[in-house]
Amino acid sequence: MGFPPAYPSLVLILGIESSCDETAAAVLDGPRRVRSSIVASQTDLHAEYAGVVPEIASRAHVERILPVVRRALAEAGITLSQLEAVAVGHRPGLIGSLLVGVAAAKALAWSLGLPLIGVDHVQAHLYSGVLDRDERDEGFPALGLAVSGGHTATYLMRSWIDANRLGGTIDDAVGEAFDKAATILGLPFPGGPNLDRLAQSPGANPKAIELPISRLGADSLDFSFSGLKTALLYQARGVPGRRGEFTPAPALTPERRADLAASFQLAAVRSLMLKLERARAAIVERTGACRMLACGGGVTANSLLRRELEQFAAAHGLALRLPAPAFCIDNAAMIAGLGCLLLNSGARSDLSLAAEPSAAI
Ligand code: KG4
Ligand code: ZN
Repeated sequence: MGFPPAYPSLVLILGIESSCDETAAAVLDGPRRVRSSIVASQTDLHAEYAGVVPEIASRAHVERILPVVRRALAEAGITLSQLEAVAVGHRPGLIGSLLVGVAAAKALAWSLGLPLIGVDHVQAHLYSGVLDRDERDEGFPALGLAVSGGHTATYLMRSWIDANRLGGTIDDAVGEAFDKAATILGLPFPGGPNLDRLAQSPGANPKAIELPISRLGADSLDFSFSGLKTALLYQARGVPGRRGEFTPAPALTPERRADLAASFQLAAVRSLMLKLERARAAIVERTGACRMLACGGGVTANSLLRRELEQFAAAHGLALRLPAPAFCIDNAAMIAGLGCLLLNSGARSDLSLAAEPSAAI
């Protein structure tokens, strides 16, 4: 079944994102130009639990969604009547959180008589590297890397709206592993950015403690971070033995904590890069070429990963699409941008659009 005939190019599109703990709205002028991008983070609400509490998240979305949409319109300098379409992240994510954004988007699209499009959150992360950038020379097939608190996977991308998964994590997502490692080291929530900062502090030595880099099978494209997390736990708290004995760990001095943060970060990034290399080779084998590396998700904000991705892309002659810091974490600009591409290719959703917790790609 093909798409209906393409719309004339849409211009002003509102994006809404509420899949986890950020309530976000953005207005884009076409698929790439960001007129406004508002993100209301709920970090403070979840900090005391050291993780996102779904019920608290969905209630906060209900309170914030309309003020956030209003601010996005005001900062873009437009009114509701000037909008031409509405896009919403409808999967995957926390069901109670997704429902709020989906309901708001449907109500706005229906009441304004505008086309509606549901957008996949992971696919939108992969797209986020082109937002507010001028480069037009991207090429497919491309290698996609999604690294966030909920996702760690590589993709063969034949276009921005056609991504097939090559490999994914068999246990924790890499962002989740960063967050848990930060908790082990006693760092405040949100763990990932705090661990990154500590790993960059003067004197922190990434070679101080050797932590495992997961390879899985020789040809595996999958990721695993639970062994690394346990190894860090033992280094920080001590090693329990089989017969109930316990080998205590050295004292967690500020120096050792910084060394552990840097060593964890190095091992996590090395295992991502190892599988990225395998995924690139798999794409070349399958299609004969790999022209671009498109990355997205909160962990693309990591300083070491960004450097490694730049070197990897340069070494393999890949165009690199790495999101600007504001578009690494969850945001609605990526939803509006990809939504605009989808609508202009003829796709559209109707009012039966459902919030779907599971990943589809
Ligand atoms: O994409 P995102 O906002 O939400 C999900 O879709 O999951 O990603 C959030 C994740 C969190 O686990 C957070 O700790 C991690 O991204 N993160 C980082 C950094 N900044 C955010 N991890 C490592 N280093 C960072 N600088
Ligand atoms: Zn995300």
